[in-house]
Amino acid sequence: MRNIFEYAINKEIDFFDTSPVYGSGFSEKCLGSIINKNIHIITKIPAINKPVENCEIIDFYPYFRIDKYVNVSINNLKKDSLDILLLHNWHYSWNRNNKIVLEYLNGFKEKKLVKLVGISLPDYFCNDMDEVIESGLIDCLEVPLNLLQNWAIEYILPKSIKNNISIFARSPLAGRLLSNLEIEDVKKRGSAKNYFLKYSESNLNKKIKNVCRRYNISREALPQTAIDYCRNTKGILSTIIGMGSINSINKNIQ
Ligand SMILES: NC(=O)c1ccc[n+]([C@@H]2O[C@H](COP(=O)([O-])OP(=O)(O)OC[C@H]3O[C@@H](n4cnc5c(N)ncnc54)[C@H](OP(=O)(O)O)[C@@H]3O)[C@@H](O)[C@H]2O)c1
Repeated sequence: MRNIFEYAINKEIDFFDTSPVYGSGFSEKCLGSIINKNIHIITKIPAINKPVENCEIIDFYPYFRIDKYVNVSINNLKKDSLDILLLHNWHYSWNRNNKIVLEYLNGFKEKKLVKLVGISLPDYFCNDMDEVIESGLIDCLEVPLNLLQNWAIEYILPKSIKNNISIFARSPLAGRLLSNLEIEDVKKRGSAKNYFLKYSESNLNKKIKNVCRRYNISREALPQTAIDYCRNTKGILSTIIGMGSINSINKNIQ
């Protein structure tokens, strides 16, 4: 992982998305050991547990959890303050009655320990976010966005643009699904997003064929079309592309 980060930084990539749970802390620690002040980082606070139906946000993000992870990330990243801090998990039960946690999170901006705060939205369809977006309590949202998963364009972006919320689009290649790999290999390598792994190989092949037909492109052109789709979507501040190889970095910096 370290050589990938170093290579990316040498190639002037200056923005990374991480979390204290990625590589059980290794991703943040590794970045912390090589970044300089010109590199910007999104990191996230993991909830105590995976959210469930009708759960209260405060039970999953109690204050001590937020305190702990602000410290963990500051120490791992060796920064005086965090650039962007997101709640790593979200559940539609929290679309209302979330003030107690979001206000607490904002308190870290006043303490100058965090510059911007927000939420990383889950992979499943997530609408009904207007109250959160208009609350004045979030600066940004990270949303899954790709040719197979584009509900954010209708349900998140218009209100966010109106309310000056910065949007980061993640997973433009739907894990590896929209890369050039055969679906069989995507499944074998296990790196397609879990969200898509629930579909059968034939169903996924059908989805990919439909995308190629809709955009009138060959399978080879799919990754670039998929990345361009995010980059060209109005209201997207930055696209977060997963890259676990030098090869992908080289392709994406061209
Ligand atoms: N809840 C959350 O907050 C959450 C959830 C999921 C993801 N994320 C973030 O979003 C990032 C990206 O998500 P992701 O990994 O799901 O998906 P992604 O960006 O859709 O796909 C990444 C995969 O695509 C391959 N790839 C990259 N550029 C390519 C290109 N130009 N042509 C062909 N293949 C290419 C990479 O292969 P190689 O590995 O071989 O380089 C990598 O495995 C993650 O790293 C993470 O930071 C956040």
